[in-house]
Amino acid sequence: MNKLLEGKRGIIFGALDAHSIAWKVAEKVHQQGAQFILSNAPVALRMGEINKLAEKCGAEIIAADATSVEDLEKLVQLSTEKLGGKLDFVLHSIGMSPNVRKGKAYTDLNYEWFQKTLDISALSLHKMLQVCIKQDAISEWGSVVALTYIAAQKSFPGYGDMADAKATLESIVRSFGYHYGNAKRVRVNSVSQSPTATTAGSGIKGFDSFFGFADKMSPLGNAPAENCADFCVALFSDLTRYVTMQNLYHDGGFSSVGVSDAMMQVYMRES
Ligand SMILES: NC(=O)c1ccc[n+]([C@@H]2O[C@H](COP(=O)([O-])OP(=O)(O)OC[C@H]3O[C@@H](n4cnc5c(N)ncnc54)[C@H](O)[C@@H]3O)[C@@H](O)[C@H]2O)c1
Repeated sequence: MNKLLEGKRGIIFGALDAHSIAWKVAEKVHQQGAQFILSNAPVALRMGEINKLAEKCGAEIIAADATSVEDLEKLVQLSTEKLGGKLDFVLHSIGMSPNVRKGKAYTDLNYEWFQKTLDISALSLHKMLQVCIKQDAISEWGSVVALTYIAAQKSFPGYGDMADAKATLESIVRSFGYHYGNAKRVRVNSVSQSPTATTAGSGIKGFDSFFGFADKMSPLGNAPAENCADFCVALFSDLTRYVTMQNLYHDGGFSSVGVSDAMMQVYMRES
């Protein structure tokens, strides 16, 4: 092991079960020598799966609803106390849309739920960063990474109001990245990941066929969650110190392809 993150401390949000992208990140970050706190919403912790991850990684678990500034204030303060110093990295791997979950069409949104989607999936990043900057909780050259999806740039009908949340999330990455970089040399980036079979991913209508489509469109195929975790490790490490305010595609090339031979062959067979 390279021990790229030896001596670093952090918070990892969003590990629900072994399929979660955050779960894979926690495993890799642990292998690379970092110490961290695992956090998730109280209701997710009740599932109990996260205890296995905590044991494996020697991590403590602290509950926080990422939409509650009060919860985040307590979490960040407790984390720096328990880890024995300021944070070097934070992973925001949080997303949920009540509209998508309940099958509401984009043209028939429930607006209360829409606000929840935005609060959970986008504003939570702002809240987290604002709490951290006010508590001066992240070290110089620290790194914050948020997970996102290409529906922020191009339309993917089944993604519903999550597309608007991701566009907002990526804008917060740029805007806060500017301020945090200027004030404390803290980096803020988003990683735009391929479709991945997790609880959040599989909740999108038509996920299975869409997963296959994206795989055929991407020259390298869909990027697995384990490799996304490796990319997050690189972004948390000192090898990427001057990368900030970026939306970085981790998608096997999907975002740059107009049409692929593999997809055309499927079309020709069917037409
Ligand atoms: N799975 C995919 O296809 C895919 C693709 C690109 C980006 N992403 C993004 O990756 C991130 C992680 O999702 P995942 O695919 O690992 O699925 P997941 O369901 O395993 O993770 C989503 C997490 O968000 C947490 N969460 C929901 N509401 C919360 C709240 N109020 N406070 C704190 N945590 C809360 C859930 O408990 C869960 O742990 C999300 O931002 C998602 O949009 C996923």
